[in-house]
Amino acid sequence: MFYDASKRDHGLALDPLKALIVPRPIGWISTVDAQGRVNLAPYSFYNGVGEFPPMVYFAITGTYGDTPTKHSRMNAESTGEFVVNMVSEELKEQMNVTTAMVAFGVDEMKLAGLTPAPCNFVKPPRIAESPVALECRYWRTIELPEEPGNEAKRGSVVFGQVVGVHIDDSIIKDGRVDALAFKPVARLGYSEYTTTENVWRMRRPDDPRYQ
Ligand SMILES: Cc1cc2nc3c(=O)[nH]c(=O)nc-3n(C[C@H](O)[C@H](O)[C@H](O)COP(=O)(O)O)c2cc1C
Repeated sequence: MFYDASKRDHGLALDPLKALIVPRPIGWISTVDAQGRVNLAPYSFYNGVGEFPPMVYFAITGTYGDTPTKHSRMNAESTGEFVVNMVSEELKEQMNVTTAMVAFGVDEMKLAGLTPAPCNFVKPPRIAESPVALECRYWRTIELPEEPGNEAKRGSVVFGQVVGVHIDDSIIKDGRVDALAFKPVARLGYSEYTTTENVWRMRRPDDPRYQ
């Protein structure tokens, strides 16, 4: 099949696009507002985008409730900091609790029964139960184009520079991060998720550094 993305004339009951861009890692973003109140929310339009310096982004989509944009973006912009926590398989239910659209200032980390742990370089807490956390300094936001008829759902992309990295020692095996040891949860389409169940190595023919 082929469909025109602007017309969304795919003829399917549900828009298939997000089921095609898979699996997506989930950035579980913790921030604080100007008063120091904690906010936590999952973002699967999230990824690393640079190494020197290390850079990540998360993207705002959809509806925002009664604030001008989503709380994670508001806090990252107003304080200049955010933290990306990793969702291991055992934290998937807690992650789902933190997607709830609650009022600005409500602490979803507390709602989900998670434990805040201090960061080294930034004010937002990381999630103590999460095996990986990236402390980030906000860099900039890029506004995405408006779609006629959907102006209120205009997207944006929030970039940050990774300045501190927490890795639980239990997921390091033989000097490498072992994906099977912490099973990062990834988003598929609809309400489907997956995790890392198998890993193989494929060496690059042109570069022996990739072992
Ligand atoms: C697994 C998962 C991934 C999500 N990814 C995104 C995303 O990439 N962008 C987005 O705007 N919302 C995403 N959401 C919805 C947000 O988590 C939700 O709108 C949340 O209330 C935003 O919280 P905040 O306003 O505190 O930032 C996702 C939800 C789930 C469960």
